[in-house]
Amino acid sequence: MGNVIKKLMIGLVVGGALVGATRAFEFPVIFQMMFFAYAMLGAVVFMILDAPALTPMSGLKSVIVLVVFYVVLCTVYISGASMWPQYDPEDEKGKIAKILGPKYAATQQGKAEELIARAKALDEQTKALAARLKALGGDQAGKDQAAGGAGASPASSGAATGDFMKLGEEQWQLQECYNCHKLKGEGGKKRGPELDNIASYLSVDDIKQKILDPKSFMAEGFEKEYEKGKMPDKYKDLMEEKDVVALASWLGTFKNTSVNTPKPIKKK
Ligand code: HEC
Repeated sequence: MGNVIKKLMIGLVVGGALVGATRAFEFPVIFQMMFFAYAMLGAVVFMILDAPALTPMSGLKSVIVLVVFYVVLCTVYISGASMWPQYDPEDEKGKIAKILGPKYAATQQGKAEELIARAKALDEQTKALAARLKALGGDQAGKDQAAGGAGASPASSGAATGDFMKLGEEQWQLQECYNCHKLKGEGGKKRGPELDNIASYLSVDDIKQKILDPKSFMAEGFEKEYEKGKMPDKYKDLMEEKDVVALASWLGTFKNTSVNTPKPIKKK
């Protein structure tokens, strides 16, 4: 009995030390609890080592006991694991559906709608262009039209711009920036700044630099997070150049001055 208490004490001390250490490294609480649980599990194993030996069994009885043992073990493991959200396939399916859903919907509804939207965007581009030409004065407008190419290329690049912005928004979802950043009132668990007004401070190139090298800028008031490198330095490996540019361009449209996006300070 004394031995059991001694081992339990050692287990508690080791568990406590692990919790202290994991907390110091800012592990999530669930991991702190897991480390503690492992320490206790270890203590139990050492206690069992002291237990008196079982009387040997043989024949059918031993087979039944073994099977029952495995059934109990499997049931505990499977039912335990299924209580964790990350092992729930529905959870993963939900995430995938959130990203791919709109795309599937678009293809299912056929190309017609997409074409109409594209035509509309083109129309708007043309109008904007016409207004710009007007602003430049009749003479200039005449010259531009005579030059020909000037009219066609910005309009077609306008349709491409729409796709490009869509790609940017997709990257925001795909790279899970929303895990740390709130945007349009969504996401962010208080770990990083809200980004709704980022374009008032940073150019598209600056945003791109921040994504590729998070140490390049520091959000004012986030000194601790910056020093600890909270924003992952992995996007340069995960993302293609065009993805980064699209994401930065998309973020470059957010100029909502009513949101308190902290001022970025240039570091490199
Ligand atoms: C794990 C959390 C985390 C993730 C994921 C993350 N960031 Fe950040 N980000 C931060 C933190 C914390 C800061 C503030 C400290 C700093 O500037 O480094 C920050 C700062 C920023 C800033 C500067 C904001 C300002 O006001 O100065 C931008 C822009 C930014 N992140 C963009 C992104 C983009 C785009 C992604 C996705 C590709 C992303 N972040 C993913 C944590 C994260």
